[in-house]
Amino acid sequence: MENVLITGVSGGIGRSVAERLLANGSTVVGWDKTVSDEARLLAERYPGKFAMQEVDLMDSEALPGLVKTLVAEFGPLGGFVHCAGFDKMSPLHLVKLSDIENLWRLHALAPMLIVSSLSGKKNHHDGAGVVLISSQSAHEGAMGHTAYAAAKGAVEGFLAPAAAELMERNIRINVVCFAPVKTPMALSWMNNLTNEGKEKLLASYPLGLGEVEDASALICFLLSTDARWINGQIITADGGHAVRKV
Ligand SMILES: NC(=O)c1ccc[n+]([C@@H]2O[C@H](COP(=O)([O-])OP(=O)(O)OC[C@H]3O[C@@H](n4cnc5c(N)ncnc54)[C@H](O)[C@@H]3O)[C@@H](O)[C@H]2O)c1
Repeated sequence: MENVLITGVSGGIGRSVAERLLANGSTVVGWDKTVSDEARLLAERYPGKFAMQEVDLMDSEALPGLVKTLVAEFGPLGGFVHCAGFDKMSPLHLVKLSDIENLWRLHALAPMLIVSSLSGKKNHHDGAGVVLISSQSAHEGAMGHTAYAAAKGAVEGFLAPAAAELMERNIRINVVCFAPVKTPMALSWMNNLTNEGKEKLLASYPLGLGEVEDASALICFLLSTDARWINGQIITADGGHAVRKV
């Protein structure tokens, strides 16, 4: 695939998606607010194939212009995966307006604006694929995750009408909905659990918590032409959680 944009490329899932695509010969542009050492190493391993740019995706108004600049520099996008994210846990009665706004901005506004820009005629390749990431928190009673889950719900609501419009431009878009994947984000909220809480959580995933490779394998499949028949779907990967014996 040519010119796949991955946000959150310094993070767990984003870097794994980049590594998998680069290993398969794709070219990748990675955006993150910070360039991690691992991402820097990846750029050294794949010279001319991986460009890393420091971008703060909270700056919503700048995003359409940044996509335009990216296309001018590297050419039309062959794919887009939105892996940037953060979680801010808070009991509902203490949730702050600024946290709701920030979570919404990064998880929902940023991908909507980037997808809107890439759908412009000259900004994408024919057959481009888009994958956005939702969370099990949007479907279960995950305590303290209301604002995060609401932003993920917005991504899921965006999907069907966006897929209908994008299909006319020969772009497919799907959402993956993940249970906890072992990345800094998930490990930081899990560290706040009591030992008993952690044990209960782990027992509810018969196939274990996700590895970043489990997440990136599904994302890369959905981006690829092997998934040419799949559009507008929310695909869940949850370690057997939903069908576990209770
Ligand atoms: N890890 C999980 O358990 C899990 C489960 C379900 C969904 N998700 C979703 O998967 C996606 C990837 O998560 P992850 O676990 O790899 O997280 P991560 O914390 O490992 O990586 C997130 C990346 O986003 C970047 N980022 C944060 N704010 C940014 C900003 N303003 N501008 C640019 N980049 C910014 C961070 O620097 C980091 O590199 C997120 O959308 C997350 O909500 C994760």
